[in-house]
Amino acid sequence: MTSAFLQIQRLRKTYDDVVAIDQVSLDVRKGEFMTFLGPSGSGKSTTLYIVAGFQEPTEGRVLLDGKPLLSVAPNKRNIGMVFQRYTLFPHLTVGQNVAFPLRVRRRPEAEIKKKVEQMLALVHLSEFRDRMPAQLSGGQQQRVAIARALAYDPPVLLMDEPLSALDKKLREEIQLELRRIHQETGVTILYVTHDQEEALRLSDRIAVFNKGCIEQCGTGEELYANPASRFVANFIGNSNFLPVRITGRAAEQASAVFPSGHAVAAASDIPLPVGGDGTLMVRPEQIRIRATEAAHRATQAAGLPVTVRDITYLGDAMHYAVTTPWEQDMSVRMPAGDHRDSGIVIGTHAWIDWDTRDVRLFAQA
Ligand SMILES: Nc1ncnc2c1ncn2[C@@H]1O[C@H](COP(=O)(O)OP(=O)(O)OP(=O)(O)O)[C@@H](O)[C@H]1O
Ligand SMILES: [Mg+2]
Repeated sequence: MTSAFLQIQRLRKTYDDVVAIDQVSLDVRKGEFMTFLGPSGSGKSTTLYIVAGFQEPTEGRVLLDGKPLLSVAPNKRNIGMVFQRYTLFPHLTVGQNVAFPLRVRRRPEAEIKKKVEQMLALVHLSEFRDRMPAQLSGGQQQRVAIARALAYDPPVLLMDEPLSALDKKLREEIQLELRRIHQETGVTILYVTHDQEEALRLSDRIAVFNKGCIEQCGTGEELYANPASRFVANFIGNSNFLPVRITGRAAEQASAVFPSGHAVAAASDIPLPVGGDGTLMVRPEQIRIRATEAAHRATQAAGLPVTVRDITYLGDAMHYAVTTPWEQDMSVRMPAGDHRDSGIVIGTHAWIDWDTRDVRLFAQA
């Protein structure tokens, strides 16, 4: 693993009595695609704007390639930025827009011409060089904005929800382009989104923001398989959250009971209050559903009796809406092929079970 290229250290930003971010620390590797994911108001843009130099932190520091960044004037930071809304100069052509940051830096004319061609080719818009921004679609405008931000070879590119104003199809198309551009240029990217699918598709790692703090940072797989909190589990993928009372704990496993008295065990490496309330997390696709108690018992796995409320065919999978003995709704998802001879029918009782290694216990109720 190469050492950190961009180091964000204990950033805090307050507005009067509002704490926008607190204790935000993150090491980003050179060439990494790092995404900030989190709900509205969780501090993603604030963190990005401090790196860009549009805002000053109340506390903390940022290092780029080992050197303090915050004392450098924003226009001297050489950091590329793409915003949510199109920010092209409406009175300049596409080519002139891309050339703009190079002209500001007084690069030689021949170099500017070459670079503009190169950047427009990168975003597949060479034939649009002489058009005005108003003559482009939203997605094309955003690609010009990306070309402009990359024109002067910034070491870091910051993007604040650059695709959120686009429709789904266009968004997915530009996501693919972004991946390609990232691979071709090797630029380090900090990317903000509140769309988990987009985060999973694009990122090397994801920092999950919640209430001004980074709740967890890791690869999509790490966050999915091993969420540090209920919040992260809820934000990455779908989950069922079931109430339990913690009855005991050993090294990396804890035991608990459901409100119905059924026992359950789960992996957990966080402190859990024995005798206290907790939450069991189990993902819909990690649950098996069986028509009979005998079939369930044969697995020797922990589980629950449920009532099947609805069955939906989703093409590659079947979705079961079931309710627990304490009348809580749950989602179960199984490969469609497994359903065919399962004998599971709407309105009847069934059993669900899961592998202990696939479920997690959290201390919060
Ligand atoms: N100028 C300001 N004055 C006061 N509070 C502010 C200001 N700017 C941001 N905040 C507050 O700081 C917090 C973090 O805001 P920020 O814009 O970083 O969130 P975000 O994660 O980017 O949200 P969104 O997904 O809605 O863009 C919010 O509670 C916000 O209301
Ligand atoms: Mg924002």
